[in-house]
Amino acid sequence: MMVNLRINLTIFLLLIGLASQVIAQKHLPVLKKEDGKHTFYVDGKPFLILGAQLWNSSAWPSVTDKFWDQAKELGCNTIEAPIYWQNIEPSPGEFNFKELDHLILSARESGFRLVLLWFGSYKNGRSQYAPPWVLENTEKYPRMKNAAGNDIYVLSAVSETNLEADKHAFVEVMKHIREIDKDHQTVIMMQVENEPGSMWTDRDYSDKANELFNSHVPQFILKKLDKEDGTWEQAFGIDAPEAFNAWCISGYIDEIAEAGRKVYNLPMYANVWIRENAFERPGEYPSGGPTSNMIPIWKANAPNLDLLALDVYHGNVNIFNDLCEKYNRSDNALFIPEMGNGDNFARFQFYAIGNYGAIGVAPYGIDPFHRDPRDLRDQIKLDKKFDGIAKNYNLLSKAIYPISQLQGTDKLKAVGEEEGMSEKLLRLENYDLLLSFGYPTYKDRNRRTGRVLVGQTGEDEFLLIGFDTKFEFRPSFGSPYNNVEFVLVEEGYFEGEKFVRERIWNGDALYHSTLPPEGAVLKIKLRRVESSEQRKEKANFDK
Ligand code: DGJ
Repeated sequence: MMVNLRINLTIFLLLIGLASQVIAQKHLPVLKKEDGKHTFYVDGKPFLILGAQLWNSSAWPSVTDKFWDQAKELGCNTIEAPIYWQNIEPSPGEFNFKELDHLILSARESGFRLVLLWFGSYKNGRSQYAPPWVLENTEKYPRMKNAAGNDIYVLSAVSETNLEADKHAFVEVMKHIREIDKDHQTVIMMQVENEPGSMWTDRDYSDKANELFNSHVPQFILKKLDKEDGTWEQAFGIDAPEAFNAWCISGYIDEIAEAGRKVYNLPMYANVWIRENAFERPGEYPSGGPTSNMIPIWKANAPNLDLLALDVYHGNVNIFNDLCEKYNRSDNALFIPEMGNGDNFARFQFYAIGNYGAIGVAPYGIDPFHRDPRDLRDQIKLDKKFDGIAKNYNLLSKAIYPISQLQGTDKLKAVGEEEGMSEKLLRLENYDLLLSFGYPTYKDRNRRTGRVLVGQTGEDEFLLIGFDTKFEFRPSFGSPYNNVEFVLVEEGYFEGEKFVRERIWNGDALYHSTLPPEGAVLKIKLRRVESSEQRKEKANFDK
């Protein structure tokens, strides 16, 4: 009897273990394209990465242990942290996961998700994160050569040995993450390498690379890019070296991603050091990276990458919007894993999310390391320059579900206060909405803090999510209505799909109709009113 009971209990526990594994596997983070729009799911629910990226030398316990309170102050839900090949594989085949474990466990304990950045063969168009046993053995692990035939500080992407070494390490990393995290999914995405490409040369000029360069471009690339058969030079002309490098590097990274996904199928991506506003000469930015002109090659050659992500530090709104347009494509969800900070970027986050369907945004360098590495205080406050972004995150996290539902449709728009633009008229379905900035007077006029997401959730229903913005609705110009009444204006937050009301706005609040400096999520119900003239006419007609 006792034996039977024990067997039953064991079977029961095994089943529970199995079930929890099945559930966890079922809910692996995934990026989906549904009805033409991209949505990132975590735990089976739409997720918006409100991220923060650590400085390069900060994913070490000595730094992160001081950092979690700061991250909470920022209100982010995801930390993007580098993991270093040089630390993970100190000698060939010997793996060290001490710091990785610490990172995952402490992020989990503090309630954050992680995007891990694999600093392997490529980091900003160089290879400085490869382990010493790789960097010191250039015979076995060959470098790219420049046009003069000299080795440069970049691993060759046409070398099988390099690829196998990096891939082996990455696969071990993925195995390890699977082992310690598959039931939790603290780690939700992997960046494979960092701003890949080659600095100082437009392509690899090693013998093997030269041979490939002078061969015909693979048929499937030509087909996808709608090009005639030919060598790289024949097919790509002046862009041939860069296109060739893009093919070599995207293939290298894709193979690493593919092997990693076979072990643990997390979404993966590559990020870009942009070419815009450099001299635009490949090699002055990492040549062959997923720059805007190379997206088609990367898309054709790296099917194991979910997306090509945009790093952007330009504080100019036109440049920012132009880049978002280039990376928000039907075959590419916009994700900005690195961006600047300050008021500009606080507004830009709204544009990325509201106008370009971004699945996530993250300022770079938010941990205390950059303040002063010798600063030993235990509690370090978040730097003031992240104020606007902290406000964003604390507000946006109240409305992740509706934002993710509206993204990628024409029902979501973002507007911000730009230089020389104190108001903006939005033409929406049934309504015109005038948004104006610089009001109320207690707002700091030297700072452009006005920003708002406008979501239309019904014929007469809206969500306004933002700061320092006055809103005035009118019936669409030319419609039979001439006035608008507020039926109900509620401030609150969303718990998943459910709206939780904290208060109703009325009286003076609606007279001023201005989103406050600390931000608000407003759920607005309106009523369009016909003019008495028209009402009379209609009444006559009905008689
Ligand atoms: C872009 C890189 O991807 C980051 O790792 C970091 O080096 C920043 N640049 C520094 O601005």
